[in-house]
Amino acid sequence: MSDIYPVPPDFAARAHVDAAAYDRLYRQSLDDNDGFWREQAAALDWIRPFTQVSDTKFDPADLRIRWFADGTLNASVNCVDRHLPAKADKPAILWQGDGEGESESRSVTWGELADKVNRLANVLKGLGVAKGDVVTIYLPVIPEVMVAMMACVRLGAVHSVVFSGFSAEALANRIEDAGAKVLITADEGHRGGRVVPLKHNADAAVAAQPSIRHVVVVRRSGASVPFTPGRDLWYDEAVAAAEPWCPPVEVGAEDPLFILYTSGSTGKPKGLVHTTGGYLVHAGTSWRVIFDWHEGEVFWCTADVGWVTAHTYKIYGPLLNGATSVMFEGVPTWPDSSRWWSIIERYRVNIFYTAPTALRSLMREGEAPVQRHDLSSLRVLGSVGEPINPEAWRWYHSVIGGGRCPIVDTYWQTETGAVLLVPIPGAVANKPGMAAKPYFGIRPVVVDAAGTRLDGVAEGNMCFEGSWPGQARTILHDHERFVLTYFAPYPGLFFTGDGGRRDEDGYFRITGRVDDVINVSGHRLGTVELESAISSHPAVAESAVVGFPHDLKGQGVFAYVTLKENIDESEALRREIVDWVRARIGAIASLDVVQWAPSLPKNRAGKILRRILAKVAANDFENFGDTSTVADPAIVGDIVLRRKQTLERESS
Ligand code: WT7
Repeated sequence: MSDIYPVPPDFAARAHVDAAAYDRLYRQSLDDNDGFWREQAAALDWIRPFTQVSDTKFDPADLRIRWFADGTLNASVNCVDRHLPAKADKPAILWQGDGEGESESRSVTWGELADKVNRLANVLKGLGVAKGDVVTIYLPVIPEVMVAMMACVRLGAVHSVVFSGFSAEALANRIEDAGAKVLITADEGHRGGRVVPLKHNADAAVAAQPSIRHVVVVRRSGASVPFTPGRDLWYDEAVAAAEPWCPPVEVGAEDPLFILYTSGSTGKPKGLVHTTGGYLVHAGTSWRVIFDWHEGEVFWCTADVGWVTAHTYKIYGPLLNGATSVMFEGVPTWPDSSRWWSIIERYRVNIFYTAPTALRSLMREGEAPVQRHDLSSLRVLGSVGEPINPEAWRWYHSVIGGGRCPIVDTYWQTETGAVLLVPIPGAVANKPGMAAKPYFGIRPVVVDAAGTRLDGVAEGNMCFEGSWPGQARTILHDHERFVLTYFAPYPGLFFTGDGGRRDEDGYFRITGRVDDVINVSGHRLGTVELESAISSHPAVAESAVVGFPHDLKGQGVFAYVTLKENIDESEALRREIVDWVRARIGAIASLDVVQWAPSLPKNRAGKILRRILAKVAANDFENFGDTSTVADPAIVGDIVLRRKQTLERESS
């Protein structure tokens, strides 16, 4: 069976980039990297043009990442103003709410978007927000989230969007770290027929974080929610009363655009800082090429605005290009599992971008929910967030794409800002499950554990050589951690934390995280972060968390928990710990398996041996490798025995 899906010739014929163009441009982009990005940067409107393209060095002792540094610009002008007046009456956003009633859908034109952005910027200015200040945004997927992000950057303020599924505690931690003065939230969000108590969570977070002086509240549901006069203001009233023009603030290319928190292998979530010029160049130009968007086409990225996927390819990419995009507040399985397909039909979506985990769960529902809808508008399909398994890939290709749509499997990270590996759809033939080839200007390198570069067919740690404009510049308040995590492991290279394999055709397959990060449904969870949440439960003495293969989520969370003396193992306590962690972090932090462990296997220095724990979690009871370092081998025997007993119980 051939595992290569060639580029359809009619697709290539009208694509922005075909195979010949890819080869030529890729070579040029390496030979004259600055020249390539200088040309790409012409896609933006600069206030003061830059004179130097890059000033970069991946040296852990003297890390430098600067792009277009002496240029100045304003992001909201590039994303909104310049599409006017031409597109004033054309839709920027086609919004579909969680429900299906009439009030649950609305379209926002570029003219309306500009009006709201200017007014909200004036509101924020009135609240004292100025260039460089951080505004935290805790909103569902509603048009106001786009307005809020754009209003911030109009003032040169920095947005920090927090996923609306995160708990009050997680929100409070992110507000504190960023030192935000203003929070923008909504009364309630709606997801899958359920209410998300955003204002309630926001109040709890702000009570713990007095740096917040004002809370702007969008009326989404109209529910009556607590309101603190003097501190809180209603979005609709404030915007209606504000001046309709706000002069854009000129910022430097290297001034921060946004902060986005993500989990790492150690410590608490880190706030990655992205800057303005380089990020916008990489986001805007790559979006157009990798999705092969043409004027008039409708784009839909299903990601929540709280993740980098949405920042780059749902908000900035489409806005910079003046594209119409669909925004959907709800979930794919409510009211039934044909919801997404009905939205594609209704809005005539041409380009659809989603995550493998969702595809796997929809695949389980069979083809009937898909067949009820006309998906003939689709032209390009995208995948992101985790390696897509070939089975899901084939289903996506044949059942959703009708066999005619190329699939762009985009590999990148919060840290990289925009895409690094991708089969550009008119240029690179698909191989299921492979993120394929480097984007322009990107140099992938596979190294072994010792840092030796591996050529040809090889598997190892995925690194990249040389900078690219979209990459994060630092971790807020912790530049040292930034250097140590990404640049110290293999000097001269950026290390992703992923494993990768290059095949005989030079195609790359990402094999998953090689650090202590778990990728659950395309979302990153740090094992240490989960362990701290578990261990803060009063009954818990110690815990260790590892990922394990999970049919739907890609990876699931497996927790080994040691209880304090004299505390009994019980089903009730197990549930309590699961709820406890969800309340600390959010519903995405669901422990799939909790196994009681009277003790955890450690080496003589007291370090938990996760390698062994991960094997047991994956039901691999042999091949523990070298166990001579285990201080007490009987502990391993006990852990294996308990796991086997659970499996027996489950299968009987
Ligand atoms: C991690 C980054 C990229 C935005 C969404 C997630 C994994 C992401 C792919 C892909 C294989 C992928 C990696 C990466 N990942 N896309 N196409 N194929 N793995 O952003 O939360 O920063 O997570 O997601 O493990 O390191 P993120």
